[in-house]
Amino acid sequence: MRAAQCLASASMLLLLAVSTAVAQAGDIAATPPMGWNSWNHFQSRVSDTLIRETADAMAANGMRDAGYVYINIDDTWEGKRDANGKITSNEKFPDMKALADYVHSKGFKLGIYSSPGPKTCAGYEGSYQHEAQDAQTYAGWGIDYLKYDWCSASTVYRSDAMPAVYKKMGDALRATGRPIVYSLCQYGQNNVWEWGAAAGGNLWRTTGDIIDKWRLSWESGWGKGMAQIGFNQNGLDRYAGPGHWNDPDMLEVGNGGMSDTEYHTHFSLWCLLAAPLLAGNDIAHMTAETKAILMNRELIAVDQDPLGKQAVVVTQVNNAQVYKKPMADGSSVLGIFNTTEWGINVTLPWRDAGLANDEQVRDLWSHEDLGRVPETFKVRVPSHGVVVIRVRQ
Ligand code: GLA
Repeated sequence: MRAAQCLASASMLLLLAVSTAVAQAGDIAATPPMGWNSWNHFQSRVSDTLIRETADAMAANGMRDAGYVYINIDDTWEGKRDANGKITSNEKFPDMKALADYVHSKGFKLGIYSSPGPKTCAGYEGSYQHEAQDAQTYAGWGIDYLKYDWCSASTVYRSDAMPAVYKKMGDALRATGRPIVYSLCQYGQNNVWEWGAAAGGNLWRTTGDIIDKWRLSWESGWGKGMAQIGFNQNGLDRYAGPGHWNDPDMLEVGNGGMSDTEYHTHFSLWCLLAAPLLAGNDIAHMTAETKAILMNRELIAVDQDPLGKQAVVVTQVNNAQVYKKPMADGSSVLGIFNTTEWGINVTLPWRDAGLANDEQVRDLWSHEDLGRVPETFKVRVPSHGVVVIRVRQ
């Protein structure tokens, strides 16, 4: 009896701790984080100059005002530790605090990257045994976001230590008193969605690295094509919500390895999944089509909806997969995806998508109202393409 009571109150306490962590996290990532990250396009070519130029470009081209506020430095910024063990930036980043000030003055936030292991994935200095010190250093520089990448941690920790290892940095970030978005990157191992929020995470990668291809025909270790990742997020929806998001990895839109039709699909799917929207392309040199995709405000509103629901597959018709995302205002967004190699005609009875008759329909790519549609929605979807509609009664 006593033991049972003890267990009950211990689990109450745990629940309380988790919900407090989630509530606090909710303050800084109430909707999926949006911004840009250097890795997908630039890898080790990231520098102070690139970050400033990217901030200038994102302020000028409307991205900041569309919601892309985090500018995130990925791997290869790290220098050595000084005599006191304090991490320094390398010659590509002469003054991190001055850079943060510049980025902030333009209305953005600055993100940085590290690993719980001794070395990052690219072999630079990690945070192993310097977690609290690094968190304080980041806060002192004015950092607003940390991506924390497992990498060489596997040489010093067992894989079942992951929750505790990630919580250690989560606690260290919280102890700085600065709101810092905490991004867990361990490629979806150990069902991270089950413990990521309790570790203080605001987002966690659910997969290995995205590669700028529709689908890979070869085996490539951690890397996967966009469709192989995006259409494999089913079952994770219940772990997403305000403050804590599933992260199917950063966007490849505009990087050149897929067609514009496929990039429409990529962006639509990420928005429906309530995924973080971190552009990963060369912002200062993008095409009008790339810009139109990344700045489709009606789609961004789907991603950023305050209800914070991740879409689920509700039906499959004529070889199309139909995703549905409930919205805060009572409307629903449907994504009708064609992953086949041919164009297809889709005939979707509303009831198959759990909807009533006479839905009022708006196309979120053509930006047109299609009026009321009685019982069945009919549309042609190109190969590897998508039609996204918002429907309401
Ligand atoms: C891992 C991550 C990538 C990127 C690189 C940097 O592969 O998954 O997103 O951060 O490391 O080295």
